[in-house]
Amino acid sequence: MDLYIDTANLDEIRQANDLGVLDGVTTNPSLIAKEGVPYADQLVKICEIVAGPVSAEVLATEHDAMVPEAEELAKIADNIVIKLPCTPDGLKACKTLSDRGIRTNMTLCFQPLQAWLVAKAGAFLVSPFLGRLDDISEDGVDLVHKIRAIYDNYGYETKILAASLRHPKHIVDVALAGADVATIPYKVIAGAMKHPLTDSGIERFLADYRKALG
Ligand code: E4P
Repeated sequence: MDLYIDTANLDEIRQANDLGVLDGVTTNPSLIAKEGVPYADQLVKICEIVAGPVSAEVLATEHDAMVPEAEELAKIADNIVIKLPCTPDGLKACKTLSDRGIRTNMTLCFQPLQAWLVAKAGAFLVSPFLGRLDDISEDGVDLVHKIRAIYDNYGYETKILAASLRHPKHIVDVALAGADVATIPYKVIAGAMKHPLTDSGIERFLADYRKALG
């Protein structure tokens, strides 16, 4: 399963990249707003750090405005992937851009039929938002299972990018459900390498060694 970081913060992206296991980045307008920098300027800097796919979301909501905005964003770097919402206009824009060779990440996916249609339109990635479904007492992980089954039944090549992951158990669950990619906030990535028995184990090994050999 590929690992993307879900942030627009350059320090977090650098720190995750330094771990040596980062495959890409997802951003969205809320994450960019937190950094207080115009979208395009921040994307240039992110693409200087990470060579893998960097998702950039359009602000337009209608097909005719989404497509030129996407084409401008795609000029920033070869690794830009255009994020479009799972709406009828987003679906049409996905088809238009896919036919022109521009990769898309279909975001805000909350039910399996949205995932089916964007795969038919040639999406590179689909982003089911698990945490936001869990927030309203639905089952986010179950959505990933359903999309995986539909894609496998018909051989769709769109990759499932599990998004809105809030804690380490979400990562385990989507890996078991067959997600192709998990996009994860920095603090959750850091948590994924932690276990108290690892820390206490190191302390005990060192203490035993020092006691015996100084
Ligand atoms: C993914 O591309 C989104 O940016 C992100 O995962 C949304 O997460 P949230 O629901 O925690 O805001």
